[in-house]
Amino acid sequence: MKKVTIKDIAAEASLSIGAVSLILNDKPCRVSAENKAKVKAIAEKHNYTVNQAARSLVTNSTKTLALIIPDIENLFFSSLSKIIEVRCRKAGYTLLIANSNDSFDDDAELIKIMNSRGIDGLYMIMSNEAYLHKEKAKEMLDKMLVPYVLVDRVFDEIDCDQVCFDNELGAYLAVSHLIECGHKHIGCIANSNSNNGKQRLQGYKKALSEHGLSINDEYVVEGNYRFNGGYEAAKQLSKSNASAIFSCNDMMALGFMKYVYEQGLKIPDDYSLISYDNQLYIFNLGVALSAIDQDVEELGNVACDLLLRRIAHPIDQKENIVLKPKLILKDSVKVK
Ligand code: RIB
Repeated sequence: MKKVTIKDIAAEASLSIGAVSLILNDKPCRVSAENKAKVKAIAEKHNYTVNQAARSLVTNSTKTLALIIPDIENLFFSSLSKIIEVRCRKAGYTLLIANSNDSFDDDAELIKIMNSRGIDGLYMIMSNEAYLHKEKAKEMLDKMLVPYVLVDRVFDEIDCDQVCFDNELGAYLAVSHLIECGHKHIGCIANSNSNNGKQRLQGYKKALSEHGLSINDEYVVEGNYRFNGGYEAAKQLSKSNASAIFSCNDMMALGFMKYVYEQGLKIPDDYSLISYDNQLYIFNLGVALSAIDQDVEELGNVACDLLLRRIAHPIDQKENIVLKPKLILKDSVKVK
C-alpha cells in the first residue's frame, strides 16, 4: 500500500503543501480552523505520521535527545530516567536512553554514537570511572556538537550546565544524626573513586570531626555503589566494633543488609543503618530505612529546564545548580 505523503493530503484538502506542513507540525499559519481540522482529519484517515528524518533535513533538528546513565539496574537512575523521558516527550522530543555500566570507555563510545544519531542535546551522568579521567572527560565534552547538561555527577573543571545534590551536606546530615543518637563507632560504605562519593566521604568525616570523634580508617570500606560492594563491605565492617553504618547509596545498603541478615543479625538492634538515595521505601526490607533523599523529580526537572533552555538559547550564561538533600528518618536507627 503506497505511503500517503504531505502532497497527497494537500491535494485532498485543496490546500498548499506549505500550509499543510505548518498545520501538521502545529506551527502558526493563516488557515481557518475549519481547514486545519480538515487537514488533521485527512491525515488521521490515512494514518499519516510526520517523517522525522525528512523533517530534520529542513529544520536541522531531529527532536531527539539522549540520556546516558551509569547503571540502568539502579532504581535511582531508572526513576530519574522516567522523569526525564516524560518531560522530554511533553516538550516534543524522543529520548534515547543508554547505559555505560560505569565504564568511561562506554561513556566515550555512547557519546560518539549519540552524536552520530544527530541528537539535539544530551543529558550526561558520568561513569564512576570518569572521575579518574577528568582531563579526557573534559576533552570529550568540549568536542560535543550539541548542548549538554551534566546531571548528578558533575565536574567543577568543566564549564557547562550542571545540576546535582549537595553530597557533602547529605552525608553530614546522616552521620550527625547517628552521632546524636549516641553512636561513636560509625562505619561508612563508600565510593571515593567518584566525585559525589568523595564528597559524601568528606561529609562523613566532617560530622565526626565536628563532634570530636576520631576518624578510624578501619570503619571506611569501599563498595563502588554496587550491591556486591555493600555485601563485601559488610564482611569487613563486621570485624570492627562499628554499631552504626552510613551507606553512600541504596544498592550498597541492600548488600550490607543481606550479609547482616545471613548472620542472623538485625537492623537496628545489631546495626543502625542510614542509606543514601531513598529509593527503597517501596520494598519490605524487614525495616523501614532511614535515608538521605535525593529527589529525582526535582533533579530530573531541573536537568530538563537547563537542557531545553540551552537548546532554545545557546548563548545563555552556564548554570551550576546544587540542590538540597533531605534526611528522611524511619526505623533503622537505634538510640544508644
Ligand atoms: O545509587 C547511585 C548513586 O550514584 C546515587 O547516590 C547517585 O547520586 C549516583 O551518582
